[in-house]
Amino acid sequence: MFSRLAASAFKRVPQMVRASNISAAAPRITNQTKCLLAAGAIAGTSIAHSASSPNYDAIRDQIENIIEDEDAYNPSVDAAPGPKAGGGDIGPMLIRLAWHCSGTWDKDAKNGGSDGGTMRFSPESEHGGNAGLGHARNLLEPVKAANPDISYADLYIFAGKVAIEAAGGPDIGFTAGRTDAPAASCAAADSRFSPDGRLPDGDKGPSHVRDIFYRMGFNDREIVALCGAHSMGRCHTDRSGFWGPWSYSPSTFSNEYFRLLLEESWTPKTTHNGKPWKGLSTGNPQYENSNGQLMMLISDLALIEDPIFKAWVVKYKDDEELFFNDFAAAYQKLNELGCKFNGSGAEKSLTGPAMLVGAASVVGVLTQLK
Ligand code: HEM
Repeated sequence: MFSRLAASAFKRVPQMVRASNISAAAPRITNQTKCLLAAGAIAGTSIAHSASSPNYDAIRDQIENIIEDEDAYNPSVDAAPGPKAGGGDIGPMLIRLAWHCSGTWDKDAKNGGSDGGTMRFSPESEHGGNAGLGHARNLLEPVKAANPDISYADLYIFAGKVAIEAAGGPDIGFTAGRTDAPAASCAAADSRFSPDGRLPDGDKGPSHVRDIFYRMGFNDREIVALCGAHSMGRCHTDRSGFWGPWSYSPSTFSNEYFRLLLEESWTPKTTHNGKPWKGLSTGNPQYENSNGQLMMLISDLALIEDPIFKAWVVKYKDDEELFFNDFAAAYQKLNELGCKFNGSGAEKSLTGPAMLVGAASVVGVLTQLK
């Protein structure tokens, strides 16, 4: 059992580690003295590494190398530019991996979330929403092999953070200490597993988007901020069934998604490479801009169809700093939904992570607005 003093020290850790942006597994330390020492060590510019604590600087380097590797294997029939085999850039796929690990959380059922690294196991690995993410998990296997002390659950989330930052996005707070569920056979007894159907569908509008994200505990402002991640990456016809990138620079994190949502003219896609768009018969209706190079999902256009969402789209288009601040807070919250760091039993509250990063300006606005 942790003493009250030790517990409050844990709460202070994320404030102190803003420089390194990693709350270095403080809950792993099992007594008050060690906890305070650890907190002191990470108040500086780097994290103290012990034999059993992962070297996050090295892990970051290894993930960045994968993102930059032109030979990284990311296959798709879409023949997108970038790394080998047509799937496009690696960074966005790592962000999608982290988000799909986290976005299974249900605040009422209290199951799902990124803790446990449960996407490694069937059936979650085969859930329709996770199509293609096996490529991302495979690319991270050598990092796990070189750093056996990091859990898969932490690695998947850390990779998303590194990908956002490497693409020019905001610094993302990170709390280490997720543990790995041992096997799919534990699912019935382990609340970190979750059923299929928790992730959003791209062919549905505002009420579906709200249902999905309210279930996790997000408000409208946070929903719009999170969806701004679609400035990066693309849809694949052999994964989701949709096609194309949202922006002209899919390897850059920016507020461009919001500008394009508002300024381009979006019409239903009917043809692809001169042939009828097959998505019309496979349940993948989507929209395209006037030159057909960019796409939006129905769920993206929901953000300008609904007036409350749209107000935030306009704000984020006009103010990238506001978007970055809101995104960083909401994304860390997403990453930590339901997590019991090092099995501590201390599940983070839904507003906890944003409060804990100590970014008063961000917290102030996020907590005020629904
Ligand atoms: C209504 C909510 C959302 C819907 C319906 C949605 C749907 C999709 C779909 C259909 C794809 C294409 C997958 C593929 O074919 O490879 C995709 C990709 C992506 N999504 Fe979302 N998404 C949503 C929210 C989010 C959020 C909250 C994030 C992150 C915070 C995110 C990050 C990404 C990224 C980075 C990609 C690109 C992946 C790649 O290039 O491989 N999405 N999303």
